[in-house]
Amino acid sequence: MTYQDVPPSLNLLSNEIIGLAIKVHKALGPGLLESSYKECLFYEISRAGYFAEKEKTLPLIYETVKLDVGYRIDILVENKLVIEVKAVDALADIHTAQVLTYLKLSGNRLGLLINFNVTLLKKWNRAAGNRTLCPLCKELCVLCGKKQLMKFRNFKMVGYVVYGRGSFNQVDEIIAPHRKEGKPMVFLVDHFFEGKPLVSRIPLRGNDSIIFADVTYEPKTTYVDKLAQQLKEEFGTVSGVIGIGGGSTMDLAKAVSLMMNNPGSSADYQGWDLVKYPGVYKAGIPTLSGTGAEVSRTTVLTGPTKKLGMNSDFTPFDQIVLDPELTKEAPANQRFYTGMDCYIHCIESLEGTYLNEFSKSYGEKALQLCRDVFVNKEHWDDDCDDKLMMASYAGGMSIAYSQVGVAHAVSYGLSYLLGTKHGIGNCIVMNHLEEYYPAGVKEFKYMVEKNKIDIPTGICKGLTEEDFEKMINVSMGMKPLWENALGKDWEKIMTREKLRALYEKL
Ligand SMILES: NC(=O)c1ccc[n+]([C@@H]2O[C@H](COP(=O)([O-])OP(=O)(O)OC[C@H]3O[C@@H](n4cnc5c(N)ncnc54)[C@H](O)[C@@H]3O)[C@@H](O)[C@H]2O)c1
Ligand SMILES: [Fe+2]
Repeated sequence: MTYQDVPPSLNLLSNEIIGLAIKVHKALGPGLLESSYKECLFYEISRAGYFAEKEKTLPLIYETVKLDVGYRIDILVENKLVIEVKAVDALADIHTAQVLTYLKLSGNRLGLLINFNVTLLKKWNRAAGNRTLCPLCKELCVLCGKKQLMKFRNFKMVGYVVYGRGSFNQVDEIIAPHRKEGKPMVFLVDHFFEGKPLVSRIPLRGNDSIIFADVTYEPKTTYVDKLAQQLKEEFGTVSGVIGIGGGSTMDLAKAVSLMMNNPGSSADYQGWDLVKYPGVYKAGIPTLSGTGAEVSRTTVLTGPTKKLGMNSDFTPFDQIVLDPELTKEAPANQRFYTGMDCYIHCIESLEGTYLNEFSKSYGEKALQLCRDVFVNKEHWDDDCDDKLMMASYAGGMSIAYSQVGVAHAVSYGLSYLLGTKHGIGNCIVMNHLEEYYPAGVKEFKYMVEKNKIDIPTGICKGLTEEDFEKMINVSMGMKPLWENALGKDWEKIMTREKLRALYEKL
């Protein structure tokens, strides 16, 4: 195996952590105790929104005996990156050996050995005494300059796409090759459709089953676990999971598919690249347009401690069926809120610092389609449904390669604390973002007025000090979103005080 086999996401993660280490070193300088650096680095990593464990114990299995001999990883990030902190005059081979042992005992692939007792932590090379070890090639590879970092996102896309009015009628044919003897296809259908004609068009065969998904609340890890458990108990396994509904149902279908083949709780996999095995076959059939959930590599879930997606290469659908006919019955308000999710994706992507031609191509097209629908049309018609479905797809592709921005970062805080739904939460925030997206907000307000939509106000009235702190913490944890929106020095622009003032306005 070569270094190239280390997943790009792990490279990126290690790069982020190195940035944080440099920040700590800049603040503290050399010459302090190892424990001081460790504490500060741990604080920075957690503050950046990563799941970090300090002094993680590693048992040693000798023959068949499990021994607690006191091995402890200084910091383990996202269950996969081992960090060993030192404050010594010079690193020695024994330190390298120690990290390799930790990697072996913990089953991880990449470790960072960071010596803070150097004058300049920026010089990430052998001479400066800091190394990154790749256990695969056993070389100093990430930072030594000998090998290139994977700088560009190499992302997984949806396997198959069918688009067109009435394409839902092809579902039977499309899923047929994925049926496994005796194992059902499970159709996870938005509860809105219970008793509606669409249900009778679902191509049930053999022991196929329909489960109506309750999307009163946005998907929770407990609900995903319950659905997966129910299917395992009833069928052992299934041929596939087909989600039919809005963004919530799309995300539920992806998550349940993954949990059919992964042990434990879906909460264990909230984060980047934690999912261990591919799920069962999964297809998404959106009935609302705008979230782009049909193309994304994440499934947004609220867990016991965080609202975060199962973001992995195994998450995208194997198949999507884009049939604009299915969105016909959506109420105007809901259609607007979900449609605005797409509009806001475009503004945040196109105004962001992560923008490249790939994202721009999709973002510009999606924006134009949103404008056709919400600005230029006088009445809603089939053409609007056709266009908005493609806008959702293209908007999703745009943010898959760039990122969202301020509206999403702030609205995540609202939804975590108050359960505010994604689309409406984004609209509530966008209404107050003139400072960041002046032209976008002006147009957004015009669309609100033209489409006669009510955007709630005063939702943060009466919140306690503790509530505001929680929202600010969640929002500040969305580092890539802020960085995309405001650049590398975003923390100087968006201070906690400024964010607090923004929440108070909502
Ligand atoms: N995975 C991703 O990348 C991603 C991106 C954005 C949003 N999301 C998630 O998507 C969710 C929001 O999705 P949404 O805005 O599509 O709403 P939703 O799926 O929560 O549905 C909103 C309401 O519309 C109803 N509905 C669905 N289809 C309908 C139809 N055709 N006619 C009438 N009513 C219909 C639902 O029953 C529900 O009451 C959130 O959970 C959010 O976290 C995920
Ligand atoms: Fe969104």
